Amino acid sequence: MDILPELRKRVSPLVFEETDVKNAKLELLIEAARWAPSCFNNQSWNYIFVHRDHSSRNALEEALSLGNGWAKKAPYLVAVGANPEKDCRTNGLPYYAYNAGLSVMCLVIEAEHQGLRVHQMAGWNEAEVKNALGFPERYRVIVVFALGYESGIKSIWEKLEERLKDKLAKSRERKPVEQNFFFDKFNPIEAIHLSN
Ligand SMILES: Cc1cc2nc3c(=O)[nH]c(=O)nc-3n(C[C@H](O)[C@H](O)[C@H](O)COP(=O)(O)O)c2cc1C
Repeated sequence: MDILPELRKRVSPLVFEETDVKNAKLELLIEAARWAPSCFNNQSWNYIFVHRDHSSRNALEEALSLGNGWAKKAPYLVAVGANPEKDCRTNGLPYYAYNAGLSVMCLVIEAEHQGLRVHQMAGWNEAEVKNALGFPERYRVIVVFALGYESGIKSIWEKLEERLKDKLAKSRERKPVEQNFFFDKFNPIEAIHLSN
């Protein structure tokens, strides 16, 4: 028994092919994203898909942190924003961001299913992203992600920056299950050690 193959195989790639994404595939990603659950079914997310030929592309690329320069190769950069005032605040929580995250994850898994890959980013200047894409004043930008086909890195390895080579050489890791997942009560492994 194993988890869904799309969950097992998914990675955030650092090297994208320049190959374009067909509109039929984009439509499937959008369909997956729109069927995400959301608080009161508010669906407050707004996605802006920016193709490398679109007029806003340069300004959006300029808004990325220097360390996210790898994303410029992807055929699409996508920004997701929402108006925090137009979604649930139950228990004071920012559900506009939670809901957008659920929707993006649906898109990510559908992308994986379609042979595409997504790399989400927090490294960008919000004012510059808003300005580049014309998000309304009250909106917050929640995430920007690169979308496209992952490139086989062997052919371009020599051309990569050292920093990217280091990142790619590292194995992907996750925290041990016991650190994040509990049964019955809040019971992280650190707390067990402390009480011994
Ligand atoms: C909200 C969010 C913000 C992230 N920001 C960045 C970023 O700015 N730059 C980057 O290279 N990766 C970024 N990542 C990718 C994570 O580093 C990556 O998901 C994590 O290391 C696990 O790797 P995996 O997605 O390949 O499993 C971000 C991921 C998420 C979900």
